[in-house]
Amino acid sequence: MRQQIAAANWKMNLTLEQGEKLLDEILGKMGNLAANRQAVFAVPFPYLAMARQKTGVRAQVSVAAQNCSNKKSGAYTGEVSVDMLNSLQVSYVVLGHSERREYFQESNQLLAEKLDICLAGNLKPIFCCGESLLIREANTQNEFVGRQLEESLFHLTAEQLQQVVIAYEPIWAIGTGKTASSEQAQEMHAFIRARLAQQYGAGLANEISILYGGSVKASNAAELFGQPDVDGGLVGGASLIADEFTAIIKALR
Ligand code: PGA
Repeated sequence: MRQQIAAANWKMNLTLEQGEKLLDEILGKMGNLAANRQAVFAVPFPYLAMARQKTGVRAQVSVAAQNCSNKKSGAYTGEVSVDMLNSLQVSYVVLGHSERREYFQESNQLLAEKLDICLAGNLKPIFCCGESLLIREANTQNEFVGRQLEESLFHLTAEQLQQVVIAYEPIWAIGTGKTASSEQAQEMHAFIRARLAQQYGAGLANEISILYGGSVKASNAAELFGQPDVDGGLVGGASLIADEFTAIIKALR
């Protein structure tokens, strides 16, 4: 049975004090999660140690970084390596978020390198993909997302792919208040799973969690997560509000 995951993406928000308060509140309210459910907190680098410390004893609760370097170590001022994240016992790293692709020119090729270095270090990638409004309007979203998967993921072995979580995040739905309809989400998630099945076989494709991201809120989470191929969400804005994110965790299948 594949994992159902609610992942908070704090992006570049909150002070340390605000982050501590938010985590305390959510951890206090969310209760214990069943074995097939997980809550993941992707916090800014300087807060990883704090988040690890607060979530340390909780089952089914993990901490994620929002990015990592494609280099192992050395003279790369400002970068953060997989080894550093491992030394903090971080479990996941978000890779290829559309904001990284757009503002920091991250290409499918660079992301393939980041995936390799994460997997070599036993850090689980949450690999983001998704199309712009222009592509959606031209109805070429399947080709576009298909290429993102091919160029960044499909060189992985089956064993490596098993460690990857995929997040489908249509760019036109991120931070816009405009959510993909549950039908649009399901359609793309089914397409992604079908591509994984073609490449790796249906058995493995069925084990991969595919999260939806883009204006997920407490009010639409249950409907989205109720779709057969939607295994939870990657949540930005609503993850900064304790009651919202707690309700989203509780909406997991
Ligand atoms: P949003 O962001 O929930 O604020 O739309 C989602 C994301 O970018 O991961």
